[in-house]
Amino acid sequence: MGGVHPPLAYDAYESTRLRAPARSPLLIPPTVTELTGPALGERDFGGLDHDLTRQHADEPLGERIVVHGRVLDSDGRPVRESLVEVWQANAGGRYRHDLDRHPAPLDPNFSGAGRCLTDAEGRYRFITVKPGAYPWKNHHNAWRPAHIHFSVFGRAFTQRLVTQMYFPGDPLFSQDPIFNSVPDPAARERMISRFDLDATVPEWALAYEFDIVLGGASMSVFESEESDGDDE
Ligand SMILES: [Fe+2]
Repeated sequence: MGGVHPPLAYDAYESTRLRAPARSPLLIPPTVTELTGPALGERDFGGLDHDLTRQHADEPLGERIVVHGRVLDSDGRPVRESLVEVWQANAGGRYRHDLDRHPAPLDPNFSGAGRCLTDAEGRYRFITVKPGAYPWKNHHNAWRPAHIHFSVFGRAFTQRLVTQMYFPGDPLFSQDPIFNSVPDPAARERMISRFDLDATVPEWALAYEFDIVLGGASMSVFESEESDGDDE
C-alpha cells in the first residue's frame, strides 16, 4: 500500500527536485467569481474537438484508436458536463511543441489535443491515434511509456485534476519514474487503460477504456498543480 498520488518530490524523477516546493502550501479560499464562472456549454465546442484524427486536411499516420470512459464521483455517480481535455504525442512519439527536440517527424495532420464534455452518464469519447513512446533526459536512455495526458474540470476552473492514461502491457513501465512515483501499486494499475474489444469498430479502430474517478477507494491518480501542463 501507500499513497494514491505521486509525491511532489520524487528523487528518481529529476525535475521534481527543483520544482517541488520547499515549504507547505497555503490554502487561499476561492472567491465567488472563481467558483461561478466561466462555465462551458456545448455551444463552446467545435463538432470535431473530440476527434484528433479529423482536425486537418488529411488523417494522421498511426494506429487509430477510440479512447472512452466515464468521469465518476467518489460514490460512483456520473459527473455530467465535465470538461475533459487530452493532449498527447503523435504516433512517432513527437509533441507539437517548441521544446520537443526528439528527432521523430511531426505529423502535419496531427495537433495532439482534444476536448469534450461528458454526457448525462458521465461518458466521454475521443478518437485519436496511439501515441508513440519518446525519450526524455531524466536518466540515461530514459523513455516514457506511451501515454495520453488528461485534464478534468469540476464545477469551476479552480477545480482541475490532471492525470495520465497508459496502455496495457507496455514494456517501459519498469524504468519510468513518473509511473513508479505512485506509491500504491493498485493505484498505479488504475492508470493503465483496459483494452475494450466491445468498443472497437470493425475494420476501423481498436479501443481502450479509461475511467476517471474523483474520490473514494477507486480514486484515480492525480498529479499536483506544480506538474500539470508539463509535457513529460
Ligand atoms: Fe507526455
